[in-house]
Amino acid sequence: MSINKDVKKITTNTLQKMKERQEKISMITAYDFSFAKLFDKAGIEIILVGDSASNVMAGHETTLPITLDQMIYHAQSVVRGIERCLVVVDMPFGSYQGNSKEALNSAIRIMKETGGHSVKMEGGEEVVESIKRIVSTGIPVMGHLGLTPQSIYKFGTYTVRAKEESEAEKLKNDALLLQEAGCFAIVLEKIPASLAKEVSDSLHIPTIGIGAGGHCDGQVLVMHDMLGINTEFKPRFLRQYLNLSEQINTAVSQYISDIKSSDFPNEKEQY
Ligand code: KIV
Repeated sequence: MSINKDVKKITTNTLQKMKERQEKISMITAYDFSFAKLFDKAGIEIILVGDSASNVMAGHETTLPITLDQMIYHAQSVVRGIERCLVVVDMPFGSYQGNSKEALNSAIRIMKETGGHSVKMEGGEEVVESIKRIVSTGIPVMGHLGLTPQSIYKFGTYTVRAKEESEAEKLKNDALLLQEAGCFAIVLEKIPASLAKEVSDSLHIPTIGIGAGGHCDGQVLVMHDMLGINTEFKPRFLRQYLNLSEQINTAVSQYISDIKSSDFPNEKEQY
């Protein structure tokens, strides 16, 4: 399937139409100008400035430590690199859970200070009031259900979610609540493929899966995982498209050796 580059700018309407046409949506994370520019040029529809920046950019074990200021810095860099895709910025842990006013203030800071196009929040029923308030001011919101990494200490593990009937029922209900609250799309993370299909079929807004099978309306992966920069993380759902870590190791080893042997720089590489 070729990329529809006729679409000048991807908006939430574009995504809605893609769902209606059953055209799959591609999404990837990015945290800086250079990669955002590459992904946008390649034709990706959505860039997520994920709070996974806490892990892959800052080296933290969880997504909890990253701050709103740090997310804003990453999002500003991403927005400078893109022309066509839609930028979604994760609202970090602690920037929206207090109450809907706090959530709205955080979302407004993200929109004003970054030039991003939308925000993403984790959770179901418990964040519905905040989503409604944010959407009512004209800010598009993407939901996130299933494995929600900001609640890792509540669940204790990163295993597949909603395998039990009661959790699956809650997730289905949460998805409908998020749609009713005005979300333009919902990320479904690490849930059984059959449940993701049921949810995707029941919603008129798109679902974007990560470890949620092939029936979602789109897919998202963390760039460091799919490009093979981070090779320690090998979940079953991950398809690794490059082995950048090996290629970088080879290149940098060669660079070191060229310096040590005085091969670099040569005559042509100096003034
Ligand atoms: O922060 C992130 O990268 C995410 C994706 C895993 C969906 O939320």
